[in-house]
Amino acid sequence: MTTELTTLLAQAGNRRDPVTGSISMPIYQTAAFGHPALGQSTGFDYSRSSNPTRLALEETLAAADGGHRGFAFASGLAAIDCVLRLFNHGDRLVVTEDLYGGTFRLFEKTLRPFGIEAIYVDTSRLKAVELAVADPRVRGVFVESPTNPLLRIADVRAIADLARARGLLVIVDNTFLTPVLQRPLALGADLVVYSATKYLAGHNDVVAGAVVTRTPELSERVAFFQNAVGAVLGPQDSWLTLRGLKTLPLRLARQQESAGTIARRLAAHPHVRRVYYPGLPDHPGRVILERERIGAGGMIAFEIDDPARVPGILAGVKVFLFAESLGGVESLITYPAVQTHADLDPATRERLGINDRLLRLSIGIEDVGDLISDLEAVL
Ligand SMILES: Cc1ncc(COP(=O)(O)O)c(C=O)c1O
Repeated sequence: MTTELTTLLAQAGNRRDPVTGSISMPIYQTAAFGHPALGQSTGFDYSRSSNPTRLALEETLAAADGGHRGFAFASGLAAIDCVLRLFNHGDRLVVTEDLYGGTFRLFEKTLRPFGIEAIYVDTSRLKAVELAVADPRVRGVFVESPTNPLLRIADVRAIADLARARGLLVIVDNTFLTPVLQRPLALGADLVVYSATKYLAGHNDVVAGAVVTRTPELSERVAFFQNAVGAVLGPQDSWLTLRGLKTLPLRLARQQESAGTIARRLAAHPHVRRVYYPGLPDHPGRVILERERIGAGGMIAFEIDDPARVPGILAGVKVFLFAESLGGVESLITYPAVQTHADLDPATRERLGINDRLLRLSIGIEDVGDLISDLEAVL
């Protein structure tokens, strides 16, 4: 985490209203903008195309990721859908196999019928990616890292090197780490996508998505689809996301520190079979994190010894809330097999390890002692 990013985010949207000097970016709750005269524009015409509050957010997102332009969408899936419109009928993409279930559904139920095919591989295994990109119909690589929910780590730099040699686009879903802990464009990716619903907005009060592009050419194409398809983020939700971004580095530092403490406690617990947390010394992705100075983040998955205990755990937690999202200030517990990953077929889920013993934790900013006591009481 750099001081510069912390400063940039703390002041996001400031100094943009010279008329009143308003510190907080105003919410321009308007559909359209008046024109001074025929052939003239204030720079804003219609809020689907651009809106000042959304633009303040989009410029902050671009700067945070070191990209050319940022784009804000009505949800993370709308952002991913927009980026996948860069591909054509007959194209194939190499895609992380244990990715968020909604992204899997997007690939299988909306893109496959239009002739865009996902080839799923374990993107934490570079050799598997290398073999898959050798297919001449592959035009892009879509990497989620860390993955949801198993927290596998991909070597984005090595994948981007492989892809560049073949002229493929590399897209990274950076929802779990954000630019505070991982900067995919600096590692060689072409596009970064986010469910901004999660850490970026950070308060479990808005559904939003984002795209950041590396080059002017990609910006032009994404801008076209953002306006032509129109799944844009409204002014109020843009403002909430901008407000959330101001405290992102503080929140993530606390969430990551608490997640490390909780992961170590879980790993030593007699009723826990296995803990997935990239910050643990035995995690296979740890080498990549250290080499690239990527943070381990605030998400943990773990397997309990007996699936019959799951209902009691979900009903018994008092500080954690049994709910489906992640990345907010409140800690949540999720049961991926029946919630976030219900769209994967049972055999695939079992093979990947998204089994009926697996629980996922999103660590919030509460007192870490309270979080540990809550888990110990139900375990
Ligand atoms: C890694 C990841 N990507 C994308 C999404 C989709 O984002 P949204 O729910 O904002 O549409 C999610 C949602 O959980 C996610 O976890």
